[in-house]
Amino acid sequence: MKNILTGLRPTGKLHLGHYFGALQNWVKLQDEYNCYFEIADIQALTDNFENPKKVRDNIKEVALDLLAVGIDPNKANIFIQSMIPEIAELTVIYSNLVTISRLYRNPTIKTEIGQKEHLFGKNGESLTYGFLGYPVSQAADITAFKGDLVPVGDDQLPLIEQCREIVRKFNHIYGETLKEPEHLLTDTPRIKGLDGSEKMGKSLGNGINISDSEEEVAKKIMNAVTDPDKIKKDDKANPDVCMVYYYHKLIKNDNINTVKCECEKGMRGCVDCKKELINKMNEYLKPFRERRAYYENNPDLIDEVLKKGTSNAQKVAKEVIKEIKHSMMIDYFDK
Ligand code: TRP
Ligand code: SF4
Repeated sequence: MKNILTGLRPTGKLHLGHYFGALQNWVKLQDEYNCYFEIADIQALTDNFENPKKVRDNIKEVALDLLAVGIDPNKANIFIQSMIPEIAELTVIYSNLVTISRLYRNPTIKTEIGQKEHLFGKNGESLTYGFLGYPVSQAADITAFKGDLVPVGDDQLPLIEQCREIVRKFNHIYGETLKEPEHLLTDTPRIKGLDGSEKMGKSLGNGINISDSEEEVAKKIMNAVTDPDKIKKDDKANPDVCMVYYYHKLIKNDNINTVKCECEKGMRGCVDCKKELINKMNEYLKPFRERRAYYENNPDLIDEVLKKGTSNAQKVAKEVIKEIKHSMMIDYFDK
């Protein structure tokens, strides 16, 4: 069975953008592959080093969200990055195989540095070694579990490419040891925010969280952006510019043709349309809420899940690093 490795930074609650863009696919993958889902706390610290509490608190939130959407701890491993010291060791080992200029040219890193002026300065003059180097650490994440496939969004492709380069260089110098991972692109579009912006973001507050209550969902949908030209209840409108319609489609409302038709003909008021979406959305989220509540009421169980996932991950990483050290002739006193 092939290995899947992918990760998430624990920096906030997960929302429907994560669900439709990634998690929905992860739930399917757990039946077909050996899955390792990493809660990347060390990576989260690269741009949250001043907020350790935020990272710590979100580990459980992210674990709960993963369980809520249907990641099954009996099928897949959910583990905490910092609890696998081999990843840190590999990061140091690989750091010799990457040039600083290559890291600066990595498009993902370049974009992110630009977005983090508050941390790294206007011209990157306060850029940390850790942040610039996180692609190296991500290569360690992937290779520590012999990841064959890495399901990621297209923003992550340069990081997978960086990992493949490291693997090739390693194998070239020290002999065939590591596997080049492939990305597994999910053909899901970026999910738009309720405010109509192109991206639902953790920090933008324009999304529906997996953990939102029925009331929170209702409030958010009531504020969603509709066709701005529709003023009165019986005005004809264009559903294609309406976020409420977008979300009706997203959750596959079986009444979608009626929504479209009535909207275009001016036979549907936005308030009623939103109310219908609220009901359907809450129905959609119900199984997530039930699973989340189950684990919230059994906090020991979440710890168990994380400990078991981490312990399974640990075993694999230990074996892999042994082979790597052997290839590099730094396997002193090993038999
Ligand atoms: N960089 C990823 C993100 O920001 C998270 C991540 C960490 C990851 N380690 C990984 C993704 C390994 C794929 C493989 O979403
Ligand atoms: Fe959007 Fe519904 Fe209003 Fe049409 S009727 S603009 S689809 S909220």
